[in-house]
Amino acid sequence: MTEDWVWDETLFAGAAPYYDRGRLPYAPTLVTVLADVLGLDGTGRLLDVGCGPGTLSVPLAPLFGEVVGVDPDPGMLDEAARRAAAVGGAAKSRWVRMRAEDLPADLGTFTVAVFAQSFHWTDRDLVAATVRGMLRPGGALVHVSDLKGEQPGIEGLPHPGVPYGAVGELVKRYLGPVRRAGRGVLPDGTPGGEAAVIARAGYLGPERHVVPGGQVLERSEDDVVAGTFSMSYSAPGLFGARRDAFEADLRRLLRSSSPTGRFSERGPSTEVFVWRNPSVPAAAGSPAGQ
Ligand SMILES: C[S@@+](CC[C@H](N)C(=O)[O-])C[C@H]1O[C@@H](n2cnc3c(N)ncnc32)[C@H](O)[C@@H]1O
Repeated sequence: MTEDWVWDETLFAGAAPYYDRGRLPYAPTLVTVLADVLGLDGTGRLLDVGCGPGTLSVPLAPLFGEVVGVDPDPGMLDEAARRAAAVGGAAKSRWVRMRAEDLPADLGTFTVAVFAQSFHWTDRDLVAATVRGMLRPGGALVHVSDLKGEQPGIEGLPHPGVPYGAVGELVKRYLGPVRRAGRGVLPDGTPGGEAAVIARAGYLGPERHVVPGGQVLERSEDDVVAGTFSMSYSAPGLFGARRDAFEADLRRLLRSSSPTGRFSERGPSTEVFVWRNPSVPAAAGSPAGQ
């Protein structure tokens, strides 16, 4: 992250209604793998930091006694609450509007804290240390993301692939050549190297798991439009009065790639890192003790 980029609350403005439909799913067996690796048994408490529309906390809720999702975007929390209610998980779930930087906020002690494609949006050193203080000894910080560098082919599948390159060019025509993020820009994207940050905060590990994707997906034009609007760098709020014009151009572009409006794709694999809060509490002066 460039040092002069400043987080603001418009980062995902307008993206929430498109998120669940538009984003590619995590690997199909992710919840089963997490249940196994973390020994989930229907008790304990889950903290989902940057929970979005409850992508992970909603399916994980049956495996915990309680889940708490925190996210600064009110639209994301509305979606999460709606989805939890739809699967009968409302009583176990709590949704709190806040940035991770404002934790611990009297939310109590947790067995597991998950960051699913959200840690990079936070003040990582501060948040890793704070969350360590919220985990019970031996509790887990779980970092979840799409596996980078995979190029799953679509040979033999019935529809064309999504023309991501051309969609990216169209976004640039509307929003400029430099990646947008809220009211600022991120010329170099979001930061990597989270392992060093998490280790610095005193966690043990990590244990790495790659949960295989590769399942065949059929995506409609509406799904791809939703996927585009679900991204921070092309969130609806960034287009202002030109939002509808962008969508019309995007749909024209997609139709020119696939006149049927159908696209073939394969699901990404999911990479999981499990870090443990040491059983010995942090000493005063160590990062998690600050
Ligand atoms: C890419 S989405 C991931 C959502 C969900 N965890 C998932 O896996 O689908 C990133 C989420 O992080 C949230 N977020 C951004 N900055 C944050 C911060 N400083 N603290 C907590 N959440 C943040 C966004 O509002 C968004 O919902």
